[in-house]
Order: sequence, then C-alpha cells, then structure tokens
Amino acid sequence: MMKHTNLYGYLDQLKVVVLIENSTSFRSPLLGVHGISYFVEARKDSTVMRLLIDVGQNPDALLYNARILGIDLASVNAIVLTHCHYDHTQGLVTILRAIGKKRIPVIAHKDIFRPNFSVEPYLRYTGMSYEDSAEKIAENGGVLLLSRDPVQIMPGLITSGEIPRYFEFEREPTSFRTITSDGRFVEDYMEDEIAVIANVRNEGLVILTGCSHPGICNIIRRAIELTEVKKIKAVIGGFHLMNASEERIKRTVECLAQYDIDLIAAGHCTGFKAQVELYLKFKDKFMTLHAGETFLF
Ligand SMILES: [Fe+2]
Ligand SMILES: [Fe+2]
Repeated sequence: MMKHTNLYGYLDQLKVVVLIENSTSFRSPLLGVHGISYFVEARKDSTVMRLLIDVGQNPDALLYNARILGIDLASVNAIVLTHCHYDHTQGLVTILRAIGKKRIPVIAHKDIFRPNFSVEPYLRYTGMSYEDSAEKIAENGGVLLLSRDPVQIMPGLITSGEIPRYFEFEREPTSFRTITSDGRFVEDYMEDEIAVIANVRNEGLVILTGCSHPGICNIIRRAIELTEVKKIKAVIGGFHLMNASEERIKRTVECLAQYDIDLIAAGHCTGFKAQVELYLKFKDKFMTLHAGETFLF
C-alpha cells in the first residue's frame, strides 16, 4: 500500500460535542432530530482547529443546540460531510451563513452530489438537497474539497477517504439507488461515505462516523491501515445496524471485540438490537449517543 506519510502526527487534545443526534438525554433542554452533527475542537501545541462534521437535517435545530451549548459557530474552520444523506447534510448553506466566513473548506467524497434515492418504504430522494448545491455552497463561503483520498486537516486529524470493503459480512443488499451517467438505475453502495480519524497523543485513535454504510469494521480497519496506530480510544457514531440481521449484528460485535477499543458510543442508525448486543458484550465500554454528549480525550 502507498504510504501516506503526511497522515502521521498526533493531537494533544480532542474535544467532541454531539450537536445533533436522534435523541437527547434525561433532563436535556436540547432538540433531538434524526441525523448527526459533531463539533470538534482539535489542539496541538498552541494551535486550535474547530471542525464541524455533518450538519444533521434541520439547521434551526443545529443553531438552537449550538446556542444552548455555548458553541460559537463563527469559530468553525472547516466542515466535513460524511456522506450525501439528507440527515447529515441538509441545511449546510444555512450553517455556512451562520459561520459567516469566506473560504471554509467543505471536505467530502467526490461523488457526494450524485442522485441518491431510497426505495424503502417507497421511492424517496435521500441525497444532497437543491438548497445545498455546489453553487450555493460556493456563494456562501464554502470551498469544496471533493476527493476519494484521505485529507489531512491537521497533523493527527484526517478524513478516511474512500473505505475499502474488506469484511464479507458487511456486504449486504441495499435499499439505496443512484443513476449512472448512461442512465442506469442501480444499487448505490454509498461509496462516498468517509469517517474522521483523530490520533490523540498517549490515547490512541478516535474514530467519528456518520452512518457507517461501508460497515463499522471496514472503517476501523481503514483507520488502522492509514495511521498504523492499533490502540483505539473511541469509536463514536452511527453503525447502521437498524435493519441488520441477528447474524450480522453478532458478526459485528465479534469483529469489534478483536480490536483494542476503550469506548464505543453508538447511536443514530445503530438500532436498538445492536445497542443491546454491544452493551452485553462491552458493558461499561459502551454507551448510547445523545445530542449534547461531550467527550474529551
Ligand atoms: Fe444517517
Ligand atoms: Fe446515511
């Protein structure tokens, strides 16, 4: 494999705040909306970089939660979109306006603007919305960085790039469809999904995912392959096992147990059955995700 030498390096500290998630915790004043958004603060020496990963599907909810949590969106230096789905990307332009700066890198896979539909429970459009087109992103201060490759955000903080599909058990039929350039209506295996990987000094990797459509084990394998760091401090995000078979959930839990992981924080599209199995296996090393959850590594 090609050596990505620029992907090495580490952060001194990483703070992750869940801005949007499907749920909120007990007594929380925050809004829960189906989707994901994280506010990330990465520190190395005197440098502090602030990153927004996904924006959920309702910018009003994101702006509201940010205000309650005391997060100043004007401090955001870059945005990562994990994949095209509306519950991760809708309202991006409104959020760019709230950030109110010019030349904000918006990092995503090169195919994020392709048409994307779900055929279950009936035909629905699930991709990037018209309001968040490439033109409108550019008009509102965003600079698109669309690539299949990993992108170094700072030393110790990278995107995964396209995720190789290694584990056979994570290869499953999909309800998503796209249209090819020659007009075929075909299955869409969400090859645009990327994750964010942080390497925190003396801690290990922190892996942040959107939906994990490529499979959470494939994502972890990719993170280790890119960084050559095997210690995993935390895996946080949606694992997309909502509609998975019991066999797939079992295989996933077994696979995760092979890795050296301190914390698994799974919500969004993980699904109740998978959360139960993850809890039974990992006990105190497992938690569910909610809006407002804050992690400091
Ligand atoms: Fe999602
Ligand atoms: Fe998704």
